[in-house]
This record gives sequence, structure tokens and C-alpha cells, in this order.
Amino acid sequence: MTQPIHVTINQERHELAPAPYRSLLDVLRNDVALTGTKKGCDVGDCGACTVILDGKPVCACLVLAAEVDGCEILTIEGIQPEPGQLHPIQDNMMKYGGAQCGFCTPGIIMMAKALLDENSNPTEDDIRFGIAGNICRCTGYTKIIEAIQATAREMAAAREPVSPLPSPLWGGSLAEGERGGGPSDSLAATPTPNPFPTSGRSRPSSTGYGGGEQAARAAGELSATHVLAKTGSR
Ligand code: FES
Ligand code: FES
Repeated sequence: MTQPIHVTINQERHELAPAPYRSLLDVLRNDVALTGTKKGCDVGDCGACTVILDGKPVCACLVLAAEVDGCEILTIEGIQPEPGQLHPIQDNMMKYGGAQCGFCTPGIIMMAKALLDENSNPTEDDIRFGIAGNICRCTGYTKIIEAIQATAREMAAAREPVSPLPSPLWGGSLAEGERGGGPSDSLAATPTPNPFPTSGRSRPSSTGYGGGEQAARAAGELSATHVLAKTGSR
């Protein structure tokens, strides 16, 4: 006998009525049409089916759909900050060559997201341990790890404000005795309007924490359609 369940998937409410024996993986793929989550082994060995369930990464093939009543689920289709915009981990998986055939990629991205949500400054060992349950037959893992490290660096840079440049470069006056008589002396003596004021401005982030990704794409570095297809969102 089926019991209706209510579940939030990628911020949308769903009412489902899965048979008691059906896995969350099968329900996501077949009933909700979210096929970005992959079925590799179906027994919890490969990590291709990783989704985030109430904030924790799980193998969707090992969870009964009937158990997730009232839960919140995030799949690979739900991690883009805006429609058509990549999540930074997706972006870096492409930039660093972390995806080849791409079958493991959605699961690895979800696991990496869960890892970085919990530990924004992971060591290489932390990353290797974090994705230990995600099997990739193609890449040898090095590029995947580099992509996750790059994402962690970008997240850290996005959190740091830019320090204001020293005022003499922008025409501010030097204190008595600080002038060395070199070329900067003439700069200091001739006030020039500052074309790039830095005071109080945050560093523009790259790849999804601000406008940097759009700029990169506008510069021809990325093709969103290609990247979304390769990183498992389609
Ligand atoms: S399909 Fe779930 S772990 Fe392999
Ligand atoms: S990219 Fe092919 S299995 Fe990982």
C-alpha cells in the first residue's frame, strides 16, 4: 500500500506516492524526471547517485523514497545560483578538466558541495577523504581535486574585502620626510582623480559568488550550454 509523502526537491514542493520498496533514486529519476542524478551500481558502492538530503550527502539508491516524507532534497539540477548560471564547482570541474565521460560528475559535484558547505577550507586529504565514496573510472581524481581546491580558494577570496591601495599612488599627500625624490614624487605633487576607488568595496568574486562568472563567459571562456550538459545538469 502506498502512502503519500510531501517532500521539497530543489526548493519545490512535491506530493508523491512511491511504493514502499522504491528507492529515492528511482523516484527522482522516473517520477520527478530529475535524471541528472545517475544510477551506477544501485547498491551504494559508486556514489553516482549522491544527493543532499536535509543538508547531508546520501546515496539516493540506499534511501527508500517512503522515508523522506517532510525532507528537503537538493539534486544536481538545483545547485545553480540562477537559471543558466553554473555553480562554482561545476565551473571549475570544466576549467580543470575534472569531467571526462561525466557519469560520476553529478555525484562528485554534490559530494564536493556538501564538503565545502561543511568545511570551506579543506586540505587535500580532506577532499580525498570526502570524495572517497565517489568512483570515477576516467579522470584519476587529480583534476577533480584541483577543481574542488580552486572552488575553495574562490570562496575564500569572495569572503575577503580588498585592502585599499596606499594613498600616495592615487595622489594623496605624503608625510614630511617620506618623499624619496623619485618618479612617485611628481605623482604625489599632482593630485589626480582616482578612477578606481577602492574604499569600502568588496572584491568582485569569480564564478558564481558575484559577477565574475558572467564576465568570464562574456569573454568567451565558457559556454554555459556545453558546461551544463557536461556537468550533469541536463
Ligand atoms: S548508484 Fe547509488 S551508490 Fe552507485
Ligand atoms: S568522468 Fe567518467 S567516470 Fe568519472
